[in-house]
Amino acid sequence: MLSSTMEKALNEQIREEYYSSYLYLAMSAYFESLDLRGMARWMRTQAQEEHGHAMKFFDYVFERGGTVVLAAIDAPQVTWASPAAAFAAALSHERHITGCIHRLVEAAAAEHDHGTVNFLQWFVKEQVEEEATAEPIARRLEKIGDNMVGLLFTDRELGSRGA
Ligand SMILES: [Fe+2]
Ligand SMILES: [Fe+2]
Repeated sequence: MLSSTMEKALNEQIREEYYSSYLYLAMSAYFESLDLRGMARWMRTQAQEEHGHAMKFFDYVFERGGTVVLAAIDAPQVTWASPAAAFAAALSHERHITGCIHRLVEAAAAEHDHGTVNFLQWFVKEQVEEEATAEPIARRLEKIGDNMVGLLFTDRELGSRGA
């Protein structure tokens, strides 16, 4: 059985993951508006992954006899200054999520809730991957700036990401 503190914290993470999904969907729409369809597709896939993360927490709360209480999700930004700015925002959002996951691990450990500590390890690893994926893209787009050839090349490359 989850403690009420842990149950609340896991519910809060469901909201964070849904917000991540919403944010990446907003970025996908932004890239669609720029006709950068590869980046749009990349962000759409990312949004789906975040939905999957939310559902892992959702299932876990029930597995431990808890209750899922869904909270309101904030509306994400609609536009960014440039593709580089959008990817920089995505990276900084992933760093924020890494912090959330680490705080969850610390809270679970403080309560000696080893089941939850163990459950969270998948997310600890996932966040390492998320940052490692977003970082080089953000760095490259920063260098590319508004060079159309570079943007289109990167768009094409990102569009080949498997769904
Ligand atoms: Fe996530
Ligand atoms: Fe993520």
